[in-house]
Amino acid sequence: MSVTVVDHPLVQHKLTIMRDKATSTAGFRRLLREIAHLLCYEVTRDLEVIEIEIETPLGPTNAPTLKGKKLVFASILRAGNGLLEGMLDLVPAARVAHIGIYRDHETLEPVEYYFKAPSDLKDRLVIVVDPMLATANSSIAAVTRLKERGADHLRFLCLLAAPEGIEAFTRAHPDVPVFTAAIDSHLNEKGYIVPGLGDAGDRMYGTK
Ligand code: PRP
Ligand code: URA
Repeated sequence: MSVTVVDHPLVQHKLTIMRDKATSTAGFRRLLREIAHLLCYEVTRDLEVIEIEIETPLGPTNAPTLKGKKLVFASILRAGNGLLEGMLDLVPAARVAHIGIYRDHETLEPVEYYFKAPSDLKDRLVIVVDPMLATANSSIAAVTRLKERGADHLRFLCLLAAPEGIEAFTRAHPDVPVFTAAIDSHLNEKGYIVPGLGDAGDRMYGTK
């Protein structure tokens, strides 16, 4: 099991503004996209490269390029799309999977309502994105679905995680490294991350 906390000062600064309940919907969305750039940089830091032959205006040379098949970004709807947009800014050629899952407010169990992924997930790095890892019920279900569809090389990227969620996720999927900007204190009785930032989907889209 592997958990990486991306504690870069810019990430922490932006995250603090996002946590603030006075931050507007537009500000929240913009910051999530910006943080996604910084998190994307970390989650892809060890990707392999190979040298290819190119021609610069001054002549031929060998230069590195990403090795292997195109990446897949798998967004858990809705809030995952906030991270997805920023990830695609940096890796525009990535393939995208959309997984519609919400958690039932009473039971906190995941309810899937949509799934669309590239057909050839095997041998591709699949980076699953969702800002919030609370109970981990949603992310565990999403990763299970992707594995059923052939994914065999996955990473999970979030913004905020609860210790309970990290524990549950790494127990269910010990082969999937987790990247997060912060690990908060605990979950409250309604399954919200404390201190957290509230409901990520509502704050992104102004739906409260
Ligand atoms: C939020 C969040 C995660 C999930 C995390 O989505 O974006 O998907 O909760 O909670 P968990 O770890 O306990 O499963 P939500 O269910 O609010 O759906 P929405 O994005 O459609 O609003
Ligand atoms: N989902 C959210 O959006 N926020 C939480 O704190 C927990 C789950």
